[in-house]
Amino acid sequence: MKKYFYFSAAALCLTLLMFFLGGCCGKVNSNQGKESKMGITKSFFGKTETGQAVDLYTLSNSKGMTVKITNYGGIVTSLTAPDKKGNFNDVVLGFDTLEKYLAGHPYFGAIVGRYGNRIAKGRFTLNGVEYKLATNNGENHLHGGINGFDKVVWQSEEIHKKNEVGLRLHYLSKDGEEGYPGNLSVVVIYTLTGNNELKIDYEAETDKATPVNLTHHSYFNLEGEDPGGSGGSNGILGHLLTIHADRFTPVDNGLIPTGELKNVQDTPMDFLTPRAIGERISLVEGGYDHNYVLNNWDGSLKLAASVSEPVSGRIMEVWTTEPGLQFYSGNFLDGTITGKSGKKYEKHYGFCLETQHFPDSPNKPNFPSTILEPGKKYTHTTVYRFR
Ligand code: BGC
Repeated sequence: MKKYFYFSAAALCLTLLMFFLGGCCGKVNSNQGKESKMGITKSFFGKTETGQAVDLYTLSNSKGMTVKITNYGGIVTSLTAPDKKGNFNDVVLGFDTLEKYLAGHPYFGAIVGRYGNRIAKGRFTLNGVEYKLATNNGENHLHGGINGFDKVVWQSEEIHKKNEVGLRLHYLSKDGEEGYPGNLSVVVIYTLTGNNELKIDYEAETDKATPVNLTHHSYFNLEGEDPGGSGGSNGILGHLLTIHADRFTPVDNGLIPTGELKNVQDTPMDFLTPRAIGERISLVEGGYDHNYVLNNWDGSLKLAASVSEPVSGRIMEVWTTEPGLQFYSGNFLDGTITGKSGKKYEKHYGFCLETQHFPDSPNKPNFPSTILEPGKKYTHTTVYRFR
C-alpha cells in the first residue's frame, strides 16, 4: 500500500513536472511564433488593362507593423500601426484587389507626380516656351494629369537591410508625357524601419528643365480603416492635428493659390497647437484642402505635423524635407466608394498630409521654385512615424 502511495506520488510529480515544462516550453514557442519577423513577401496582384503584370509586396518589421505596397502607382494598399494597447490595425483607406484600383479612385495611397496638386489652366512658361499640360480637374491640371505616376507600373526591387526593409521603385516619364518637357527618371524608395516608420525617399533627374513635385497620397484614419477593428471609426473629425506652420496659401474657387502667404492666426486654419479636425471645419468652405507653409524650411528633415486619435491612442508624426504640406480632410469622399473592409468611405473618413512644394508654383514666381534642371537631382524625404 505504502509502495503504491510512493509510486503514485512520484508519477504525479513527474506528470506535474512534464506539464509545467511542457507549458513553459509551449509558451516560449508560441511567443516565438507570435514574434514578428522582419522581411518582405511578394505576391501577384493582377494585370493592368494593357496586360502588364503587377505585384503586391508586404513589408514587415520585428515590432509587428506591416505595409503593403503595389508597384501599380506605388500605392500603399495597407499600413498597420499599434494602438495604445499594442494592437495593430490598418490605418489607411484603399482596396485589396488591383481591379478596384484600376476602376478609379481619388489617389488612395499613391505616388503623385510629375506635379502633385494643381497647375492653373494646365499651363506654364519655362525658358520662354509655353507648355500645355493635360487638364483633368475642370480647366486645371491635377496630380500629374490624366495618366499620372499613380496610374503607371513601376519597376520594383526589394531592399533588405539589417534593421529595415524597403521597396525601390523606378519609372521613366518620357519627354512630352502629359505635356511635360524632358525625360524624367524617377526613383521612389519606401522603407519600413524597425522604429515603426514608413520613410519615403524620392529622387529624380531630367534631360530638359521641367517642374517636379512628387508626393504621397495616403488617406489615414488612425482609429482604423476597419470599423470591426479596435476602433469603430466614424471618420477623422475627432483626430487632433498639429501643423508647424504659421502661414498657408489661400486659394480661389478652383483651389488655385492666390499667391498670398497668409498668417493662420485667428483663423480656422490655425493648427499650431493640437486642435480637433472637426472643431472649426464648418467655418472652412468645402473643408480643409490647403497648403501650409512649413516653418523654418531649410531642406533638412523637420517635424511638419502630428496627429493623435483619442480612442485608439494612435499617434502619427510627419517629418519632411519639403517646404509645404497639403492638409486635405477627405472632402470629396461621398460614400460612393466601398473600401477593403466593406466600409463606405463617407465624407471625412480619411485625411491626407501630403508633403510637397506649393501648388501652382510654376506660375507663382514668389513661391520656392519647382524647376529641375538637367545635371541636378531632385530629392525629397518624408517619414510617417507611428508611436
Ligand atoms: C487635393 C484635393 C483633391 C484630392 C484628390 C488632394 O491632394 O488637394 O483637392 O481633390 O487630392 O483626391
